[in-house]
Amino acid sequence: MTDTKPILILGGTGKTGRRLAERLTVQGVPVRIGSRSGSPRFDWEVPATWGPALQGVRAVYISYYPDIAVPGAAETVDAFARLAVASGITRLVLLSGRGETEAQRAEEMVKASGADWTILRCAWFSQNFSEGFLIESLLAGEVALPVGTVGEPFIDADDIADAAFVALTEPGHVGQLYELTGPRLLSFADAVAEIAKAAGRDIRYVKVSHDEFTTSVAAHDLPPEFAWLLNELFTEVLDGRNETLTDGVQRVLGRAPKDFSAYAHETAATGVWSN
Ligand SMILES: NC(=O)c1ccc[n+]([C@@H]2O[C@H](COP(=O)([O-])OP(=O)(O)OC[C@H]3O[C@@H](n4cnc5c(N)ncnc54)[C@H](OP(=O)(O)O)[C@@H]3O)[C@@H](O)[C@H]2O)c1
Repeated sequence: MTDTKPILILGGTGKTGRRLAERLTVQGVPVRIGSRSGSPRFDWEVPATWGPALQGVRAVYISYYPDIAVPGAAETVDAFARLAVASGITRLVLLSGRGETEAQRAEEMVKASGADWTILRCAWFSQNFSEGFLIESLLAGEVALPVGTVGEPFIDADDIADAAFVALTEPGHVGQLYELTGPRLLSFADAVAEIAKAAGRDIRYVKVSHDEFTTSVAAHDLPPEFAWLLNELFTEVLDGRNETLTDGVQRVLGRAPKDFSAYAHETAATGVWSN
């Protein structure tokens, strides 16, 4: 019998959630978008909105906002997972990050919640360059970050959405932790060079000091937690701890992950990096 209950997609208008919603909808699986613009409205900061969003759903894709690395994220995800399980919704797929204390704490809490869990522990998304905070610098022709030659295995949000789709619609993924990376380590300078080539533009990469970076972040008038997060990611997490490739995409999807150059060419063709 076809299950007519929707799947709740938290962050369902964001980088991975939007792509997951598209995949499920195409296959005729009903979805409910869990975000501040969803109906009913879901807001991580307003726990009273969680129960109504969970009403009558069969499973949840949990993408935390602003970032699962932010202090306190684990407790909030824990409270949400426990509410879901108490409401009878036990199938939970958690989007997590690599080498981040708070993210790994959140994973442990979801595992301990009594849910039938799957964890997608992901590398940096390629889409940070086209749908995230780096787009402004790329359009301006210069990306300045406090990170040198460390390699990051950027993962495409399409691969994450494919993995989440499979985990939510096919058997065999309960109790699995998939560490998802792209197929190649690139420095940020390499990634910017690939984008510049694909976009046919001159875009420089400059390594700046942490102090210079902190000053430039402060000048942008960002919310304090976002400024904290950028510093955490660039001073702590990008220290080489994640400089490894994994077979997670192969394990869950039975195919290789998308390469950054394919992402760069496809995305350049949309005109998002043209000015
Ligand atoms: N980006 C990366 O490289 C990366 C890597 C590994 C793991 N992750 C993890 O992935 C998760 C998502 O990160 P992302 O960068 O891809 O963000 P994103 O999903 O693109 O974030 C935007 C989404 O969050 C929703 N949102 C914003 N404020 C909200 C609130 N207060 N309550 C509920 N929903 C809210 C937005 O919808 P509305 O505006 O409608 O509310 C939108 O759907 C984070 O937990 C992050 O730690 C990210």
